[in-house]
Amino acid sequence: MNALSRQADRYVVIGNPIAHSMSPFIHADFAAQLGLPLQYERVLAPLNGFRQTVAALQAAGVKGANVTVPFKLDAFSIASELPNTLSTAAMFAQAVNTLKFNADGTVLADNTDGGGLCRDLARQLKTLGLRLDQCQVLMVGAGGAASGCVAAFQAAGIQHLTVLNRTVSKARELAERAEAIDLPAAGGALDTPPSHFEIPGAPVLIVNASSSSLKGDIPVLHADWYARAVLVYDMMYAAKPTPFIRSLHHQDLACSDGLGMLVFQAQLAFEVWTGQSPDALETLTKVRQALLAKAKQQ
Ligand code: ATR
Repeated sequence: MNALSRQADRYVVIGNPIAHSMSPFIHADFAAQLGLPLQYERVLAPLNGFRQTVAALQAAGVKGANVTVPFKLDAFSIASELPNTLSTAAMFAQAVNTLKFNADGTVLADNTDGGGLCRDLARQLKTLGLRLDQCQVLMVGAGGAASGCVAAFQAAGIQHLTVLNRTVSKARELAERAEAIDLPAAGGALDTPPSHFEIPGAPVLIVNASSSSLKGDIPVLHADWYARAVLVYDMMYAAKPTPFIRSLHHQDLACSDGLGMLVFQAQLAFEVWTGQSPDALETLTKVRQALLAKAKQQ
């Protein structure tokens, strides 16, 4: 059966706002690569109407949904009311970005953000001759974006996680939760030097999971972290280098924004829904081009 002779399965991304979302572009490209008849739309849910929106989509036969800001916690809360629904990653993050509506009425709720980040980190490390499980991670920030990645770091077998945050108590709390799932971790203030958490020989990945650059701030870390880093990764992305990456221009360091994380989290969601895996790198190249083209028009 070819793509046109089968009825398209419907998927959506739910958020508020949602007009900017690149997910329809990404999933349309995945489907085209695999010849799957898939329809993927943006859904703007009212701020107090996420639950009703999900129920209506499920009743309309939609097969799955991506969930984005500000509804990831609402999606978790709905999923927690159902038995055997939440993945380990969603449970740790207490946030859900992927819902799969099964034909028997059951729902699968996952969080693919951390897995997407780890896939992007792993492929970039490969070009440096390294694996994720040889590295330690310095994560800046201890909010939702940061906690969304911890279970994936544990699953990827990183050597150690250091969480540094403006509010130190939140960094320590997240590190304690990481330790509770057997990921060696420590938390501290932004200016804490790496010597406090010595992991002999393990290369350092610096991951910015803070939202500071949305407010025009750059987190100031102890310089020794950069001396030991093999890769600096900012979860934010834009057509131009992000403020955090721009602030490192004097350092001779491999840097990446978070566009790859966006595409790889989508690849994981696509696998959950369809059992098939598209070539995320092929799509990433197109998404980068689309982002640049959009910026030129503005
Ligand atoms: P998100 O879901 O994007 O992670 P969040 O849960 O509000 O959003 O978390 C934002 C993170 O960015 C927090 O770690 C926050 O630090 P605090 O816990 O001290 O609030 C961090 N952050 C936000 N603005 C910042 C700034 N100007 N400087 C440093 N850290 C900042």
